[in-house]
Amino acid sequence: MLSIYLTKKVIILDLCKDLTVFLTGQFGGGFNFFSFSLRSSKNRYNYTTFANANNKIRPTMTKIALITGITGQDGAYLADYLINKGYIVHGLKRRSSLFNTERIDHLYQDPQESNRRLILHYGDMTDSLNLTRIIGETQPDEIYNLAAMSHVQVSFETPEYTADANGIGTLRILEAVRLLGLTKKTRIYQASTSELYGLVQEIPQKETTPFYPRSPYAVAKMYAYWITVNYREAYGMHASNGILFNHESPLRGETFVTRKVTRGVAKIALGLQSALFMGNLSAQRDWGHAKDYVKAMHLILQQDKPDNYVIATGVTSTIRDFIRMAFSEIGVSIEFRGKGVDEKGVISSIDEKIFNAAVGEKHFIDLKKRIGEQVISIDPKYFRPTEVDLLVGDSTKAKTKLGWKPEYDLPALVKDMMQSDVKLMKKELYLKEGGF
Ligand code: NAP
Ligand code: GDD
Repeated sequence: MLSIYLTKKVIILDLCKDLTVFLTGQFGGGFNFFSFSLRSSKNRYNYTTFANANNKIRPTMTKIALITGITGQDGAYLADYLINKGYIVHGLKRRSSLFNTERIDHLYQDPQESNRRLILHYGDMTDSLNLTRIIGETQPDEIYNLAAMSHVQVSFETPEYTADANGIGTLRILEAVRLLGLTKKTRIYQASTSELYGLVQEIPQKETTPFYPRSPYAVAKMYAYWITVNYREAYGMHASNGILFNHESPLRGETFVTRKVTRGVAKIALGLQSALFMGNLSAQRDWGHAKDYVKAMHLILQQDKPDNYVIATGVTSTIRDFIRMAFSEIGVSIEFRGKGVDEKGVISSIDEKIFNAAVGEKHFIDLKKRIGEQVISIDPKYFRPTEVDLLVGDSTKAKTKLGWKPEYDLPALVKDMMQSDVKLMKKELYLKEGGF
């Protein structure tokens, strides 16, 4: 029986028990759209029509994306980016004893809401049946396989699990797409990594540079890289590798070096922590902003042909440089003295004006008393059994073929992260002072 519901944004027509039609529209500002969505008990079809001020109609189908690793740094930025492009985004989320959705809470919609743009599914990269069911149910146009045990040092402690989730996990996704008969429909992005270059064979590293992985993480990702290439060649699948160099942001996990530094520097500035213990300060990384890098992931899947692309800034810096830059954002100069495990970072001076603007006057006096004191120490427990000493990428191919161009350089990235972490730590201080 036909029933009609009117809400603020949507007209819902319940045509019968199994079939619902959603009509949504937005008019004004010279840009209008009308969206039609048909949902049966089994499938959902979407149709969106855009009309510009001249009433030229450009019909487009709403695309469906599935993101594994949606609760991570990249998953969160990518989900936001795709939803803003009109996608319906499905995300794979592991069950955990806490919500663990902070990075995507701003996008979250209750399951009871109609016409949701973000839909989460419980799943795990180690569970083939679960992955196959979710891919079958969601019928994605694009899969972004971002889920992984992504910490290089932790992979030395959990090598078997890392191989399973990062390596075989990728096979599970590819095979599910193939078994479900979606090879022509579903495009796949594999989150490959500059860690594949490991003991680098060429500087800078590009798509043709030989791999030499240096950790269980990188070896697992090497399997994932090649199985993606193999499924592309064997079954004609649109499966691509993005070989992404390190990319960071205010959403970066707290134990990766950049975030550990920006959080630590903010805490030291506010008197919440006295020093930071670090590992190898001489390692060099090519750091970009995650916001720029998720745009490259999307561009890779919009190409007619699948391929492999290096995504990097082309600039490399040491961990030591990053620490100096983070402190300098709040007006603090750091001098490094000594070598190896005896190396230490000492506060040499503070620019009062910059510090007061970035952190606040009331904290200046306390930090000034610490000039000449050590704030950076080395703890060998952060050294890795095999280290990747130098990464710097050449993304000429991505720039010319995809038209990809990063907006952030390293100083802009450090500024973004420092501003965010000073704000966050001020909140922490406020709670601490309030007795919480
Ligand atoms: P991240 O913040 O650590 O996020 C990893 C995501 O994977 C999280 O959502 C995590 O879920 C999920 N995950 C881990 N194991 C899983 C499993 N067994 N089943 C289902 N989900 C699982 O990493 P990221 O920085 O966003 O990186 C995204 C991807 O790009 C990763 O594959 C990483 O290896 C790769 N990559 C990253 C960089 C970089 O510099 N960021 C560079 C190159 C490649 P929980 O939230 O539950 O832990
Ligand atoms: N984490 C961490 N903690 N790293 C430290 C520390 C420390 O206290 N001190 C020095 N480092 C050095 C590490 O030895 C490494 O050489 C470098 O800082 C970067 O470490 P991470 O930030 O942990 O990143 P990563 O380069 O090992 O791996 C990240 O980038 C890869 C792309 O190249 C991860 O995001 C991987 O998932 C990603 O594939």
